[in-house]
Order: sequence, then structure tokens, then C-alpha cells
Amino acid sequence: MLRRLVLYCLAGLLLSCLLFQGKEAKPAGGRMAHRPFWAPLGPRHSQCPPNHIVANASLSLPSPHRLFLTYRHCRNFPILLEPSGCAEDIFLLLAIKSQPGHVERRAAIRSTWGQARGQQLKLVFLLGVARPTTSAQLLAYESHEFDDILQWDFAEDFFNLTLKELHLQHWVAAACPHAHFMLKGDDDVFVHVPNVLQFLEGLDPAQDLLVGDVIRQARPNRNTKVKYFIPRSMYRADHYPPYAGGGGYVMSKATMQHLRAVEEETKLFPIDDVFVGMCLRKLGLSPTHHAGFRTFGTQRPLDPLDLCLYRRLLLVHRLSPLEMWTMWALVTDKGLKCAAAPLSQLQGGAGRVG
Ligand SMILES: *[C@@H]1O[C@H](CO)[C@@H](O)[C@H](O)[C@H]1NC(C)=O
Ligand SMILES: *[C@@H]1O[C@H](CO)[C@@H](O)[C@H](O)[C@H]1NC(C)=O
Repeated sequence: MLRRLVLYCLAGLLLSCLLFQGKEAKPAGGRMAHRPFWAPLGPRHSQCPPNHIVANASLSLPSPHRLFLTYRHCRNFPILLEPSGCAEDIFLLLAIKSQPGHVERRAAIRSTWGQARGQQLKLVFLLGVARPTTSAQLLAYESHEFDDILQWDFAEDFFNLTLKELHLQHWVAAACPHAHFMLKGDDDVFVHVPNVLQFLEGLDPAQDLLVGDVIRQARPNRNTKVKYFIPRSMYRADHYPPYAGGGGYVMSKATMQHLRAVEEETKLFPIDDVFVGMCLRKLGLSPTHHAGFRTFGTQRPLDPLDLCLYRRLLLVHRLSPLEMWTMWALVTDKGLKCAAAPLSQLQGGAGRVG
């Protein structure tokens, strides 16, 4: 008993030391920064009531679909944690979909490809609220310490990713309107930031652009047992519009603005990347495919015979934190000899930028 007490005291002491250091180092921060991180986060439950008529009409659907339809009309949720806004000369916003519990993934990103911050880059993690809210305080601490947490008061759920898209566009309009480009991706992607910057260099942010791993003629999955199941009652047509895989894609400022307007008046669809594809189609736009974005197909990315290949990629999906570190080590290893000519250039830019 006594030992446990001593342990608690020590832990508390350690935490307050950490906090004290954090405060000294970083007086400025997001809107929430002037509130100590242990303070309660305010109302945690949205006021939006369920639509019982829809709920009763969709009794035959799997429960996630039913839940989605029951709350589909709820489209406005307050911000719980917010980073400081972007600088005026921001070039690229890196908006990464995460979850409260994914602490290790965020840590891996911050200390690998995400460290190329400062200057004209900004990294932001997009989060909902996890149902057992165990990590709320840790999250508030992360927000205080790293100023990169953007959290809204809706449930963290696969079918709520479209809400993240909607709310992200609102936040960009309010806090990051000058960003020339935005890369939106998952928290298990490796982004080769120098390659992405090189690709975007010379492109006009006032022109429409959405580029990624584009899938065409995808069929809605009609198998009720699959995560991506979509009943005919939710989508009638046989094919989805072309869309870029949600693992990671890049868009221009013009496209952000146009998307925002159309998303505002589009019924929510539970699969977020398809939803963006639907809105692009409404705009008369088509996403552009780029072979450097690898979001579909999950062959192991770290093929030792193919090390040089990864230096030419822009984005690779589905890496564990350990693989993220390994990839980072490979990409930044100047000793690795690769045959292709442009690599010397990439090597020069792949080091610590920020
Ligand atoms: C929905 O079904 C429940 C249970 O059968 C019923 O009590 C309720 O009145 C129904 N609501 C509507 C709006 O139809
Ligand atoms: C999405 O979030 C809202 C607000 O927290 C919640 O009521 C709803 O059930 C969530 N939807 C799904 C499909 O989990």
C-alpha cells in the first residue's frame, strides 16, 4: 500500500516536472494552451438527438450502418482541442487522421517524417472522441506539448471519418486559409516530405488538383459481413465515382475551397474517400493518379531488395511505428547507393529539414 502511494507521488512529481519544462519552452500555443492540461474538457456529449424514424426504418441493416443513418443529420460538433493556426506563408498542411489511443503512431510520425515542420509545413492530427475516454488527459498533454492535436466532440468511428473531412475543411477555412496545398492521410502512412514538396513545386494552388492513388469503377461492396458493406438503400449505382484512396492524397487550395462548398450541401456517406470522390464529381472534377502514392495493395513495404524504390515514392500506406522508423532510417541513409540519377538530389533533401 505504502509502496504504491510512493509510486503515485513519484509519478505525479515527474509529470509536474515535465509540464513545468513544457510551459517554459512553449508559452504560446493553441486556443486551449492557456488552460492547464488537467482541467476538465467541458461538455463531452453532443446535443444532436437521434432520428428515430430512420433508426426504425433501418432495423434490417448491420448496427454500424444503422447507427450511421440514425445520426447522419448531425454535422456540427464543437472543437475540443485545437492547435495554433497556420503561418501566413504556409505551403503544405499535413493533416493526419488519427485516434486518441494511437499515441505511438503519432510519436513515430513526429520523430520521423513529421519532424520536417517549421518553416512552411504544419502537421496536424485529426481526432474524434474514443468511447472509454481513458486517454483524455494524455491527449490534452500531447496537445499542450506538441501543439498538433485537432479534436472534435464526435465519436471516433470508422463511419464518422466523413465528419472528420467536413470538420477539417471548416478548420482549414478558419485557421489555415493560406495553405497552398494539403496532404490528408492516415496515421500509418510514411510521407516522403521532400519528394512531395518537389512534386508540388511549380504547381499552381489556384488550379484544381487532387492527386493520389486513384481507383476507378470501384464497386460498392454488397457483402454484409465486410467493413465496407454498402446496401443498395445507401448507394444505388453499380460503381463509385473515381476517388483517391483515403490512405493519403494531396489537394490544392482551390480544390479545398471548392470541396468545402460542395461538402456543405452533400448528404454524408460513411466512407470518407468515396464521399470526397462524390463531391469531386459534383464539381465536375476528376482525381489524378500518381504512382508515387501507394495506398492500395498491402504487400510488405520494406522489401530489402527494393530499398531504392522507396526513395522515389511520395507516400506509402500501412506501416507500423517500427516500420516507420526503419523507413526513415533508409530514406535518410546517405550511404545507400542507388542507381537512378535523381536520387542524389533526393538524398540531399531527405535529411532533417525542420
Ligand atoms: C421506433 O420503434 C420503437 C420501438 O418499436 C417505438 O417505441 C417508437 O415509437 C418508434 N419511433 C418512431 C419515430 O417510429
Ligand atoms: C458519430 O458521432 C456521433 C457523435 O458522437 C455519434 O452520435 C454517432 O453514433 C457516431 N456515428 C457512428 C457511426 O459511430
